Order: sequence, then C-alpha cells, then structure tokens
Amino acid sequence: MSGTFLVFEGIEGSGKSLQMKLLSKHLEERGIPRLMTSEPGGTPLGLRLRELLLNEEFPVDWAELFLYLADRAQHVAQVVNPALEQGKMVLCDRFYPSTIAYQGYGRGLDLSFLREANRKATGGLKPDVVVLLDTPIETALDRITAARSLDRMESESLSFHERVREGFLEQAREEPGRFLVIDGAQKPEAVFEEVLEGLGTRLPLLKKLI
Ligand code: TMP
Repeated sequence: MSGTFLVFEGIEGSGKSLQMKLLSKHLEERGIPRLMTSEPGGTPLGLRLRELLLNEEFPVDWAELFLYLADRAQHVAQVVNPALEQGKMVLCDRFYPSTIAYQGYGRGLDLSFLREANRKATGGLKPDVVVLLDTPIETALDRITAARSLDRMESESLSFHERVREGFLEQAREEPGRFLVIDGAQKPEAVFEEVLEGLGTRLPLLKKLI
C-alpha cells in the first residue's frame, strides 16, 4: 500500500506552513493517517543541517546546494518513504521544487544538474501534488518582518526573492498536472478553501475523504 505525497511550496511568508497545519488538522479530525514533516530539518541530521544553513555559516552556493541535498536524501530515506509505505498521507513543507527555485533560479546554478542531483537524492520520488502558494514578495516579507527577525535566506535581496517566485511559477507552468497554484495573498480561510477544493479535484480518492 502506498500513501499520498503532498508538498507545500512558496516563498517565505507565503503562508504554506499555516495551510499545511490546517490541512493536517482537517485530516486528523476525519481519522486519516497522516504525517506532517518539513525540509530542511525533518530528521535529527537534518535539524543540524538546518542550523548550519540558516543561522551559523555562510556557505558558498555549491556548498549550500549539497547541504540541502544531504538533508533531502536523509529525509526521504528515513521519514518520507517509510510513511508512504505505511499508506499515510505525507504533508511536506518544501521539497525539490525549492531547490530548483532557490538554488537554480535564485542562485543561478545549472538547472539540468539540479534536476539530476534531486533525482539521486530522492531516488526518483515525486510529489502527487505540489500546492504552490504564490504571494507577492512585499506582502510575504511584510508578514515575516512583523513576526520576527530574518534568517540568512530571508535577508537576501528583493531581486533574489523575485527570481525564486518566478522559479516556482515556471515549474508550475512546466508541470500543470502536478502543481496547484493558489493566490497566497488572500486571507488564510479563503486560501484553505481553495486548497481543499483543488486537492479534491486532483485526488479523487481524497475528495471522498475530505
Ligand atoms: P523554511 O523557512 O520554509 O523552513 O525554509 C528554509 C529556507 O531554506 C527557506 O529560505 C528556503 C530555503 N531552501 C532552499 O534554499 N533550498 C531548498 O532546497 C530548501 C528545501 C529550502
């Protein structure tokens, strides 16, 4: 039995983590076995990598890439695959589309190499659906700065964040069947309605459950 793999993506402040939590609660109330996880940091090793990536060090672009890939390889093997094998619905905050958007479009690293490296790190695992919350940069950054100080990635320039946003949208254009693009500037309740409706259309099995 194989579960369903849902990934939530978007720039920082897009509201993806909140939407994932809302969906997890919704599924829990309906008794649907699920697992909520995230990258970077979904394993003990990953938590240490996350510290290095976001707070402590200033890796060069290629070092940054390999740290995210190391986190992903460990996460897929130790957490995601076992949960899918148990038939769970896995809700994951970020996955390889973030690497394509941030390290590819943001940093300018070679996209075909990134795709191949992601295939190696994931063993070819792909999400059933990627929920992309598309949010204007100013709105997203305003939300974060109102709540806390910025980490290393969040402190990047506006043009970097613009390229990342475009990198997500480009992936959605390339794979419209896999990506569900939702306007993340709306109120959380409105976004959640669209998430449920969109997932119901993409995953007929889920429609019956939610
Ligand atoms: P988070 O704040 O959503 O947990 O994400 C952590 C940061 O890591 C965020 O700035 C996006 C960045 N990131 C990448 O640059 N590449 C990746 O592959 C992943 C998973 C995250």
